[in-house]
Amino acid sequence: MQYNFKYLIIPIMIISIFFLYSCNNTDKLVLADNGMVSSAHPLASQVGVDILKDGGNAFDAAVAVHFALSVVYPNAGNIGGGGFAVYRLNDGTVGSLDFREKAPSSSSRNMYLDENNEVYKNKSKLGHLASGIPGSVDGMVKLHDKFGSIDWKLILEPSIKLSNDGFQLTKKQAISLNSVKESLLKLNDSKISLINDTKWKENDLLIQKNLSKTLKRIQISKRDGFYSGKTAELLIKEMNEGNGIFTLEDLKNYSSIWRKPIIGNYKNHNIISMGPPSSGGIALVQMLNGAEKLNVNNYEHNSKDYIHMITEIESRVYADRATYLGDPDFLEVPSKTLISNKYLENKFSSITLNNKTPSSDIKEGKIEINETEETTHFSIVDKFGNAISLTTTINGSYGSKVVVDGAGFLLNNEMDDFSIKPGFPNMFGLTGGEANAIEGNKRMLSSMSPTIVEKEDELLMVLGTPGGSTIITSVFQTILNVIDYNMNMQEAVDAKKFHHQWLPDAIIIEENTINNNIKNSLIEMGHNFKERSSIGRMDCILVNESGKFEGGSDKRGDNIAIGY
Ligand code: GLY
Repeated sequence: MQYNFKYLIIPIMIISIFFLYSCNNTDKLVLADNGMVSSAHPLASQVGVDILKDGGNAFDAAVAVHFALSVVYPNAGNIGGGGFAVYRLNDGTVGSLDFREKAPSSSSRNMYLDENNEVYKNKSKLGHLASGIPGSVDGMVKLHDKFGSIDWKLILEPSIKLSNDGFQLTKKQAISLNSVKESLLKLNDSKISLINDTKWKENDLLIQKNLSKTLKRIQISKRDGFYSGKTAELLIKEMNEGNGIFTLEDLKNYSSIWRKPIIGNYKNHNIISMGPPSSGGIALVQMLNGAEKLNVNNYEHNSKDYIHMITEIESRVYADRATYLGDPDFLEVPSKTLISNKYLENKFSSITLNNKTPSSDIKEGKIEINETEETTHFSIVDKFGNAISLTTTINGSYGSKVVVDGAGFLLNNEMDDFSIKPGFPNMFGLTGGEANAIEGNKRMLSSMSPTIVEKEDELLMVLGTPGGSTIITSVFQTILNVIDYNMNMQEAVDAKKFHHQWLPDAIIIEENTINNNIKNSLIEMGHNFKERSSIGRMDCILVNESGKFEGGSDKRGDNIAIGY
């Protein structure tokens, strides 16, 4: 018997396309039953998952991932910077840890101004004077002391090995390291590990022996392996040679702080995020409150009306940030008032669908964002039901670009997050005033927003991102994507983002988010645009309706969620 195959071609093609399409969709979703780590680098996520599989909890994994990122993601992962962690224990207890850097004790409010009161170009961004006292190592020790369940030494082992034996660079990392070579050479010996004689290429091995020795000292002596002894000596020597102002006393006195997180509400979801000295939690809760009041979910996702309403909300929130927020150990931050319904009722009442806020309501000043926004975030859940959301940074990409000689780690340039002169924009274009003025031992204001969302008092989402000032708006939009637009975790991360921060008066938007018709009608309303190739690099985990962990890791970077 003979078959005529031509009649089968079309059905076979349809079945194949359907099959490929469904494979792709499934491939995109990372699902797991027991635990998950979503971070900026595959090797760091793997380190965390290995710890979880070996019986460690989310806090053990978080500390291991933090140290691993200091090796495999040197542009933001760090031991020379600081950050914030928000956690939720399996019994529903929530809390947060502030391991933000502090200004060296001899810092002064005008330290970046010349005799004419003008800002020295780059002094708060590049070199030794740009750094705050690092908080990461103290933070990780505190986190492990309180919640860790496996031996500290085991937790440090993977990063010691990765730095001593080396790891293969991704393509993005090779490009990034090549782009920073000139700046690194200006401030360091050409022999530092991050500099290669020839151009770095994908799969080249990055070996960091000095960093490995520092991590070994931290493995043996915990905080004393960093804040005193050999590492501290090398750090102070580096500072003295580069006219920096750290003292041994500053290092010894550094202490991270357990703080109450900011807790807000959005449509019966609890929003748990970081309070001052981060502006993230307050600003996020304010934005969500505005979105609920103005029913933004009535508008099509990323449509003209949606973008208009969201950016009107965002710009009003950033105005508060500049005025009221700073280090709560130095000033009274009116946190409760700022997220109260009464206050916010008034704040958002002037927003209408058809009018952009008149420019007379916006302070003058031309502000440019001129540097990439580094920082890194990871999210972890474990089989015991604990969750941690942690954002950590050295501020700009590769921080101050100073590698501590002999100790192999980069120092932050977090001093630029202070308001170095009232009204003068930092590298993210953010302005500030008195509340965030420089003082010795004070923490600089941050936008980092590690966040946990509960639905009906159960864990729903763990999320966060790098991105400087865009962190808060990316977290805000990702929450809306899941709660209001029913996206799964990966879709919510993939979705195009946009951002308004009051000053400059412009919508910063990812390329190809909207078509020209929408753009032109927003321009007619008075909106301005600034396009960017990408905004944020989210690392998130959702507990889906079947109770499985669903990863969302940003393809804008090398980020990856790994579960088991
Ligand atoms: N360094 C960026 C931030 O803390 O917001």
